[in-house]
Amino acid sequence: MKGLILSGGKGTRLRPLTYTRAKQLLPLANRPVLFYAIDALVEAGISEIGIIVGDTFAEIEETVSSATCWDQEVAFEFIHQPQPLGLAHAVITAEPFLGADPFVMFLGDNLIGDSLAPMAREFLAADNPYASQILLKRVANPSQFGVAELEADGGERPGAAVRVRRLIEKPKDPPSDLALVGVYFFDQRIHTATHAIKPSARGELEITDAIQWLIDQRQAVKATVLDSYWIDTGKMEDILDANRQVLARLEPSIDPTAHIAPDAALSGAVVVQAGARIENSVIRGPAIIGERAVIRDAFIGPFSSIYHDVQIEGSEVEYSIVLEHARIQNVQGRIDQSLIGRYAEVYTAPPRPRTHRLMLGDHSTTGLAPH
Ligand code: DAU
Repeated sequence: MKGLILSGGKGTRLRPLTYTRAKQLLPLANRPVLFYAIDALVEAGISEIGIIVGDTFAEIEETVSSATCWDQEVAFEFIHQPQPLGLAHAVITAEPFLGADPFVMFLGDNLIGDSLAPMAREFLAADNPYASQILLKRVANPSQFGVAELEADGGERPGAAVRVRRLIEKPKDPPSDLALVGVYFFDQRIHTATHAIKPSARGELEITDAIQWLIDQRQAVKATVLDSYWIDTGKMEDILDANRQVLARLEPSIDPTAHIAPDAALSGAVVVQAGARIENSVIRGPAIIGERAVIRDAFIGPFSSIYHDVQIEGSEVEYSIVLEHARIQNVQGRIDQSLIGRYAEVYTAPPRPRTHRLMLGDHSTTGLAPH
């Protein structure tokens, strides 16, 4: 079985961060989101992984190729999709890589808590009658996703598997609250489907329509309702929530080259990476402090990921992600639920005149506390 991870696309909902970086490379607990998709495939025993890349191909290739967290047996192939013309178009683009093999397609901005290994085993079993297996999750806002309507009979219980009757992409009037998770199992029959469908109203070749085509051809499609969490990290709140999920499973560790001054207090699960310095500060985990980061006279609260080369002095940060080389200095009031970009600077302006001094990128969001 092969793996296909989709890391093309534009990431418009995460601007301005995605003006300069692929959304699949935004870090959760200081590792790119995309790495968790690779982990899930590797854990399911998959060692040939194709990665669909678009405009941001250079940084994705460089980041994945230089990573050392998977063993050497994993072979990556980067497949360039010149335009993000839809998830089914990505499958067409990957056809030379996929051949006639069954495969798991994983959207590179999705994060799930379940292991894929049991599903992969079932899908590969000789007596598996299904052309595709999809994962579903109950959500409060189904209109923002693909939505499934199942054959009747109690299949909506977590962990239960049932046949799918109908799938609709981002319906105005959803027939259920079961959203399509961005992880799909396919055999070679999907290739006939991706060539048979037409672009949707939004101009994309939808994988949802391709799966519906299989159903219309009387091919069986199975759905499993996820037990664990699922996060589509498309928006800031989702990224912070995904960061929380990953940090919640953090194993504490302190790199021997990190410097933790005697007046620093660490509690809970805290990871301190190589060369970081922590002085006169409180770090309350789960939290991660990146390589060469400097935390001085500061408080870092739970569910914070402080990335490499960040400097935080005289300030308090909680439930936030701070990207590399950002500087936060002498900020009064705690920074909470924030996503701070690379090389961003946050500081307290002089007391007079009492003004806010901002240099914000296009599409930035700033929430200022009242005086
Ligand atoms: O996250 C789950 C949802 O993902 C499903 O519920 C929907 O049925 C499915 O269509 C998809 O919806 P999105 O609108 O969230 O997909 P998005 O455009 O964000 O693309 C998902 C990933 O695939 C993202 O990492 C970018 C990548 N991609 C997307 C397109 C359209 C590609 O690599 N190539 C593409 O052509």
